[in-house]
Order: sequence, then structure tokens, then C-alpha cells
Amino acid sequence: MCGIIGYKGKNNVIDVLISGLKKLEYRGYDSSGIALKGQGIQIIKSVGRISDLENKVNNTELIKTDMGIAHTRWATHGEVNEVNAHPHRVGKITLVHNGIIENAEELRNELTSKGVKFNSNTDTEVIAALIDSYYENSVEEAIEKAIHDLKGSYALGIICDDSDKLYAVRCQSPLILGVSDKGTFITSDIGAILKYTNKYSLLGENEIVTIDENGYKLEKDGQEIKREVMTSNLTEEDNDLHGYDHYMLKEIMEEPVLVNKLINKYANNLNALPDLSQYKNIHIIGCGSAYYAGMIAKNLFEDDGVKVECDVASEYRYRNIIYDDKTLVILISQSGETADTIAAMRKAMENNIDTLAIVNVDGSTIARETTYKVLIEAGREVAVATTKAYILQVLILSLLSYKLNPDDNYLSDLKKLPQQLNVLLDRTGYFKKLADQIYKRNDVFFIGRKIDYAICMEGSLKLKEVSYIHSDAYQAGELKHGTISLVEDGTVVFGIVTDDFIRDKTISNLEEAISRGAKPIYVGTEDSKYEDQIIVPKVHKKLQPLLVVPVLQIIAYYVALKRGCDIDKPKNLAKSVTVE
Ligand code: AGP
Repeated sequence: MCGIIGYKGKNNVIDVLISGLKKLEYRGYDSSGIALKGQGIQIIKSVGRISDLENKVNNTELIKTDMGIAHTRWATHGEVNEVNAHPHRVGKITLVHNGIIENAEELRNELTSKGVKFNSNTDTEVIAALIDSYYENSVEEAIEKAIHDLKGSYALGIICDDSDKLYAVRCQSPLILGVSDKGTFITSDIGAILKYTNKYSLLGENEIVTIDENGYKLEKDGQEIKREVMTSNLTEEDNDLHGYDHYMLKEIMEEPVLVNKLINKYANNLNALPDLSQYKNIHIIGCGSAYYAGMIAKNLFEDDGVKVECDVASEYRYRNIIYDDKTLVILISQSGETADTIAAMRKAMENNIDTLAIVNVDGSTIARETTYKVLIEAGREVAVATTKAYILQVLILSLLSYKLNPDDNYLSDLKKLPQQLNVLLDRTGYFKKLADQIYKRNDVFFIGRKIDYAICMEGSLKLKEVSYIHSDAYQAGELKHGTISLVEDGTVVFGIVTDDFIRDKTISNLEEAISRGAKPIYVGTEDSKYEDQIIVPKVHKKLQPLLVVPVLQIIAYYVALKRGCDIDKPKNLAKSVTVE
């Protein structure tokens, strides 16, 4: 959940660490810190944003150094304060950590009984104390011994008072090695070092990295190992805002081009996509927006006559699932590092069930371990609230559904989509006007039926997570079974109506809310009597969500803008949820 970076080399260490932390801030942004290794060790920490840490660093006399580690935090153990911020130092060991140590309390008590004093109530400080307790002459040996005692997930950047080397190790949490002729990096995400290199190696579990001025070596159980150096197709360009005020708006506006790119790749080459017809049972698993993309696919595959279930990974991983050999588990994940989705994948694979990952980050744990994968090629998605990745996940799922059950109009409608999206997203003036009517509200509801309900789920999450307005999505027919008691004068109710088969049903549910004072916003494919309506082009039902959800994404953006919210980094959130 947190972001870590480390570096040893000829570039300015402070630049590498601070610019890297800024690109990792989407992973957690409640506090941060750096540790520099020179004659001694210098640690600087700060609560708040990386900009707060940067100010502190710029006003501090810094030791001369060619090596350092840094961290940006999403608190899991211990409240947000400077003491609990990383790096943590015990004895001669200073380190940064991303992950959760499940047996931290047990280890803390053992170490306390041996006289170790702790300053913070983090699990991370326990790791530092553990390595320090094993440390005699070799840091690698101390790390090796310590990781055998640890239960849970960790990506660690480690420095030692007695050594001019930088050490690292990972288990479950993501960590990659960045390679360049000007030094070696460790980082949670390649995006943080693209300014310096796009060459990287993936690290296996519990492989200990030792970095010195000549490069690095990898060891596992005392054996030296080699790992392939790969080249990322991402560039520093992917980190650029391209003149937009926020990554969320930039990434929404990228959707027409990215949708067009995937259409060109697959429309006339469906063979490149997996064939789902051999499977009689499909389980679609994800978290948050990825799960909601799965709910769209559930509607599509059911209409194709396939038995489908869709579940959130945090539930699925602990359910007693009865698999049969004709089951496919589809995992949806932008980051490919969401802990619950990884566990759901491993559960299926432990039961010899095929898994298909619809994923964005190649080289991520899910992309590496799954049986099959389709990359959505969204490029780097920086805003915590996913937008372009969700749309491309739904596009791939729609193409898989078309391949399962092809029919005439789909391909012709598909080709029109990028242009139709462009036209829709150009209506910023109107979306801003709608945002003016919503931003002061405390409660907003989204109602729809079948695939429209799945659309409501994502529309509601987008509004909720970036504007902090309490928003909820409901099956339109469910409202009158309780929730309608919350409707009062002016309560905004979005009615999503794209499915003709149930159009009238949803309209009558919207009318029930209006008769209790609700202010309707109608989003549909047919004209309506409502003052505030957004009519999107009618296209093939397997493609319709791709023209509705971007509208809800951009309305959420303008509502958050109106409310002065921190749109790219909403409070309490992080982009990649690497802990359970
Ligand atoms: C969505 O805007 C959120 N960032 C969150 O719900 C996200 O979709 C969820 O954490 C899943 O992430 P993943 O796609 O990287 O697995």
C-alpha cells in the first residue's frame, strides 16, 4: 500500500528519492521520510504530503551521500504521526517497508523481553529490530535469518551503519530493481524511476539484493542468482499531466485514443483473445471498480448463455467454492498487485482451475502468475480513482463476450465508439452545469436495472471516492423496499436507462423517487421528459456501458473540483491495495 524507493549511484540522491516519492504518492500519502547514508545516517520524516517532506529536506543541511532510501505511507499499523513514519531505525539497521507483518506483536514481545526498546507502534520497526538482533558481520545473513521469522508481506529497503551497500528483499509486496549506468534503484513501481531508466528486473520472493557502486547481486538461500533485465514500454511522458489540472481528467480524456488502439488491435484479430467457449462456468473476481467492471461482464456473459458469478475478491478468497473442471476464473485488476485478488487467483490455481487476468501492469504479480492474461494497455494510471483502466477492462470483456456470441451490428458499432466518446467528453460545459446542482448535496443515489445497475455501481463509486458525497447505487426495483425513506426534497437521483427491455420499469422507479421530492438526472439512450438529461448514442448493448460510464466519471470529476477536493489523491485511499 505504501511506496518505497532506494538508490545508490552517481545521480543526485535527493532528486532521485524526492522525485520518486512524488510518483509513488498514489500508493499512500499520510506521511513520508528519507534516510541518507554517508559518514553517518541522516533521517528526515514528515507528516502530510511529499511536498511537506521536500520543504523540510530543502531547509536541512544534508550529509554528503551517494545512497538513500525513502518511503511514502498508507498507515496500517499505528496512527499517522512522525514517529510512525518511515524510515525506522533500530541499532545499526535503518529500513523502509511496504506490507504487513502478521506476527509483529509476537516478535515485538520477544525482542522487548531481550531488552529492545521501541519508539513507534509500527510492525516495521519490529523488522529493523529483528535484523539488528541477528546482525553480526554480514547484513545479508542477518536479513536471511530475519525473513525466516517474518509472517506476512514485505518489500524492504535496508541500510546499515557499518556498510556502504544498499539491501532489499520482497515477499508478496511488489518491488523491482532499476538498472542504469549511473546507479541502481529499488522501487515499488517503475514509474518512479522512468526519469533515469526504463531498464528493470523483477525480484522473486525472498531474493536478497545487495547494491554497491559497481552494480548489484542477487542471492537466495546463499546462492547467487541471475535475473533478466527487461525494458519497460512506459516513459517519463506517462507521468506528465499534458496540461491538464489533474491526472483523473487527463486519464478520462485519454479514453477515446486508448479505446481506438485496442479496437485496432483486436477488432479484426479476435483470435488473439482467449476463447471462453470451452468453459461452462465463469467466476469473475476483482475489488472496487475492477469488481464493478466484472458486474458489467456478468450481464454480458449471462446473455451469452454462460453460467457466471461475480464476487469481490476479499469474500471469494475465504468462500468454500465448489469448482468443476469446466470453470474459468477471470481476475480483473488495474495494478495486478491487489492482495485479495492475488489470493483469489492463487486459490483457483491451487484447485487446478484456469485463470484469465484482465490486467494493466505487465510484470505485476497477477500478470506473472496467472494462467492466461490480456493486457489492457492503458499506460500508467496515476489518479487513485480509476477511469481509463476501467473502460479498457470493460472493452476487453465486451470483446470476449462478442467472441463468445458474435452478432452483426457489434463490429460496426465498435468502430464508431472512439469518435462517439470524443463527442460526449467534449460536453464539459453541460457536465459542469450538472455538477453545480450536485456539489452541495450530502446524498446522491444511482438507480438502474440489470446492466444499468452495474453502470450505477461504478458511477456511484466514482462520485463517492473523489467528492466524498455519500452516494449509493441501487437496483431500481429495490429502492421502495427501504432506501426510498432517505429520499427528500432535492435528493439527486441518477436514473440510468439504456436497456430498452426494462426501460419503463426503471422510469417508474425514478418517478416513485420524484414523487417524494427527488431531483432526477436521467442518463439514457432515448429522449425523456426530464429537464436534466444526458442522451448517449444508442449502440450495441455489449458496448453501451462504454458510452455511459465516462459521462459519470467526468461529472464526478467536476463535482469534486467544485468541492475543492484533492481529486487525484482522495483522503484515506491508495491506488494499489497490497494488503488484506
Ligand atoms: C477505484 O477507483 C479504486 N481505486 C479501487 O476501487 C480499485 O478499483 C480497487 O482497489 C482495485 O484495484 P486494482 O484494479 O488495481 O486491483
